[in-house]
Amino acid sequence: MEKMPYQSTLDVHFVQMPTADVVSTDWRSGLPVLSGTMVTLRELRASDAQSLFTMLTTEEVSRFISPPPTTVDGFEKFIAWTHRQRRAGTYVCFAVTVGSTDTAIGIFQLRELEPGFGTAEWGFAIGSAYWGTGVFQEGAELMVTFAFDSVGVHRLEARAAVRNGRGNGALRKIGAIQEGLLRKSFYKNGEYLDQTLWTILDEDWKAKAVWEGPVH
Ligand SMILES: CC(C)(COP(=O)(O)OP(=O)(O)OC[C@H]1O[C@@H](n2cnc3c(N)ncnc32)[C@H](O)[C@@H]1OP(=O)(O)O)[C@@H](O)C(=O)NCCC(=O)NCCS
Repeated sequence: MEKMPYQSTLDVHFVQMPTADVVSTDWRSGLPVLSGTMVTLRELRASDAQSLFTMLTTEEVSRFISPPPTTVDGFEKFIAWTHRQRRAGTYVCFAVTVGSTDTAIGIFQLRELEPGFGTAEWGFAIGSAYWGTGVFQEGAELMVTFAFDSVGVHRLEARAAVRNGRGNGALRKIGAIQEGLLRKSFYKNGEYLDQTLWTILDEDWKAKAVWEGPVH
């Protein structure tokens, strides 16, 4: 999700009725805690604003994604927005924490591309101190399983700028299939960048689980 859906300029309060045809509605009233051996995904809290500001506003993290909020206050507004969107049933954002610390070091996002979440898009950003540590892999497995099993996603899309080597490498590693090239589809720093479209289908993910066994 190179284009993070949150835009401070569009941050208006609105109420949207939930759509009917979803597998589980529980996540709309509060996200579950998803635990792996090293990584935990949990609901964002206002108190995560400082650490997310520190982790996600560096040049290396933000280079290929939509500009994150530029202040701690901006992150607080973003976090409040994620809660409203989750309640409206259109979007989910988990904080990533590692080990026994409760500090948010990144996020995994999921948004519907059609009512009811049949097709959805996911995105992620993790503080660079945690790159190459396995945090992405474990967090991604928790997130994708949640998307298919709890939200009822059938087709999960991700877009990564072609120049984003780590983003594309991470998606390939998790088992996403490269479907195509979205020419000049992402405006960043004064130029339009090509993006790769990656997808995972629920049946692919279930087949992978049969081959590799449950994640944890
Ligand atoms: C995307 C992100 C979450 C991935 O986490 P990560 O810890 O860097 O990912 P991993 O190290 O587990 O996996 C990346 C893979 O890409 C590979 N890779 C790194 N640079 C690469 C390049 N230039 N070309 C191809 N593959 C590359 C790595 O070798 C690794 O594969 P391996 O584990 O098999 O060696 C993290 O890099 C990040 O937050 N980036 C900034 C935000 C962002 O770009 N988000 C993605 C939007 S689509």
